[in-house]
Amino acid sequence: GKVAVLMGGSSSEREVSLMSGNGVLQALLSQGVDAHAFDPAEQPLTDLVEQGFDRAFLILHGGEGEDGTIQGALEYLGVPYTGCGVMASAISMDKWRTKLMWQALGLPVPAYLLLDAQSDFDAVIPKLGSPVFVKPSNGGSSVGVTKCRTAAEIRAAYEEAAKYDPLVMVEQAITGGEYSCAVLDGQALATVKIEPATDFYDYDAKYFRDDTVYRCPGLAGDAELRARQLSEVAYRVLGAEGWARIDFLADEAGGIYLLEPNTAPGMTSHSLFPMCAREAGIDYEHLVLQILDTTLE
Ligand code: DAL
Ligand code: MG
Repeated sequence: GKVAVLMGGSSSEREVSLMSGNGVLQALLSQGVDAHAFDPAEQPLTDLVEQGFDRAFLILHGGEGEDGTIQGALEYLGVPYTGCGVMASAISMDKWRTKLMWQALGLPVPAYLLLDAQSDFDAVIPKLGSPVFVKPSNGGSSVGVTKCRTAAEIRAAYEEAAKYDPLVMVEQAITGGEYSCAVLDGQALATVKIEPATDFYDYDAKYFRDDTVYRCPGLAGDAELRARQLSEVAYRVLGAEGWARIDFLADEAGGIYLLEPNTAPGMTSHSLFPMCAREAGIDYEHLVLQILDTTLE
């Protein structure tokens, strides 16, 4: 059949999606799949039907490509697609509501507060410690995220984050390390530990700098197994399907704190999901084929 690689889109992560999409497209073509790039920012989704596409590999990051909107349109058009359905996509794109679900099941998450223009910014550090992270609830690739150490920094960071989403959170920093776990079709593949040369794993460190250090698997022995199990539970609770990447932090004592799910994980040359897959013995081309196969379920 004919496969559309849905890439680009109009979110703040458009450029990342184009990088991911080109990787996916090349991999599919190299495996003999009849695949074509399709950018929903440039043509209507109804063209998928008119142009005879049988399935879609969805690699749009952020915004309507990851929040359930395009998933709903594809359901309506009857085009099978990779990854999470409408509900899991919508919840997962909202870091605050994801936290509420995980907390309700007793899964560990960092302490946080919601911020608005009337918030008492002076009260944040006494409650959450220093530093803290201010982030838009809806977003990705660290766009609009700032690490802060003073009330004045928190206020400025709030203004910045609010440009991306009216719902803004401030979160306790957990300082034992940044990690992520790739989950393919419900099975955790491996964790990866990220050691950014910058102050935190921001947009530059994610996609452009070559001095970020990645260790995969990120943990050893029992700790790795526990992190994989927790990631699988976190995935299931959200009703995730196909694939997703669960980001988490660890404290110095080895405790794990879930950060957020990514339901259309990056597939660039710097991205975490392909690293975890490689650790599990799956190279990039086969990973792309396996993700594509999940549309058949
Ligand atoms: N939001 C980016 C693409 C990621 O999580 O990989
Ligand atoms: Mg993320």
